[in-house]
Amino acid sequence: MGKVYLADDPKLNRQVAIKVLTAGANDESFRHRFRIEAKAIATLKHPNIVELYDYSGEDAADLYLVMEFVPGLSLFHMLAHRGPLSEATVVCIGHELALALEHAHAHHVVHRDIKPENIMLNKGRVVLTDFGVVKAFDRDNPLGTHADRTLTQVLGTPGFMSPEQFIGKNIDARTDIFSAGVVLYNLTTSHLPFEAPTVEGMFSRLRRGKYADPREYNDQLSAQFADLLSKCLATKPKDRWPSAAQMRDALLECLTFHGVKEVRQELAKYDKNPAGHAVEQRERRLDVLVRDLKVALKDHNRQRARSLIQMIQALAPAEDMMREITGVTLDAQSRPVFDNSTRSRRRWTWLVSGMLVGTALGIGVAAALYSLGFISEELLDSLVELGTNVGF
Ligand SMILES: Nc1ncnc2c1ncn2[C@@H]1O[C@H](COP(=O)(O)OP(=O)(O)O)[C@@H](O)[C@H]1O
Ligand SMILES: [Mg+2]
Repeated sequence: MGKVYLADDPKLNRQVAIKVLTAGANDESFRHRFRIEAKAIATLKHPNIVELYDYSGEDAADLYLVMEFVPGLSLFHMLAHRGPLSEATVVCIGHELALALEHAHAHHVVHRDIKPENIMLNKGRVVLTDFGVVKAFDRDNPLGTHADRTLTQVLGTPGFMSPEQFIGKNIDARTDIFSAGVVLYNLTTSHLPFEAPTVEGMFSRLRRGKYADPREYNDQLSAQFADLLSKCLATKPKDRWPSAAQMRDALLECLTFHGVKEVRQELAKYDKNPAGHAVEQRERRLDVLVRDLKVALKDHNRQRARSLIQMIQALAPAEDMMREITGVTLDAQSRPVFDNSTRSRRRWTWLVSGMLVGTALGIGVAAALYSLGFISEELLDSLVELGTNVGF
């Protein structure tokens, strides 16, 4: 719709971003959209949403918005330059994005264009921008747009759009949850769940609702993360997370699993030194996985142990590394092998318990035979003495 300039504000001595409407500057529907964008950003005051400083006003010949300048990269550029991001980093980004959506949805506003180009990261702060196709989903909304002529217009970006957005119907907060899921999928895999060479192809895949498990592209992703995404990417809105708050709760659980305590600190560390931070994250993840593996082995939960072993192997593929980290050796089928000292200790335990039980049974049988008159009292005494000597 426009051009975004980095500008100096000499009065306040600060840098600002000025978005100017260029395409269709004289077209009433474009001007209308621009006005709604200004209203939306002015209404939504949140640390994860770009801040509006000034607006040209709707009667000006040239329409523009003056916004805070967010230095740093958009997630689109980050993905293009650095390749897929780690699950822990993406879950942190998702958490902050969900906070922004919670705030927008509480004001009855759906963004409708959630995609990596419209999300920026600066020193650990995730900032949602570009409210150019925002829509209100309630009559009682701050944008005053219930007569919005774009209600049935299809706006958004194919590839990130929900099925209902594609057909321009029944859009509510859950449409942003769908797109947020596509963003998280995209950032961890560099793919889109419903990618196809044409828009028609995308729509047909969307309607069928089938997409490749993200772990097929990135074997370091957890089942928990894949499940969380599946509740964003459901074809029917009723099968998705009902609210951004619930999606955020699930993301928080995922963060515990990664040993992340402070989301913004984690993102700031990533932003400062992505490569160094990846090493730290990997070590922390290994610690959590090894701790869980030890519990699974102790509980003889073979299925869980095997899946944990697979995850550890994805992070530390070398065989000797696996043994060094977990203290567990694997056989050719990657099953845990208990070492010999454990085995022989177990064998001795069985032998001693067998002897004790055998002795007790023997004494019991001798006593029964004595009471039935089959053996004499002297014989019983000597059997008991023998049993006691052997058993105890
Ligand atoms: N406040 C801002 N600070 C810094 N860069 C911005 C800001 N707003 C937009 N940009 C940059 O300009 C690009 C286009 O802005 P956007 O609002 O998304 O317009 P469009 O409607 O053309 O997509 C963004 O992807 C981002 O790189
Ligand atoms: Mg944009």
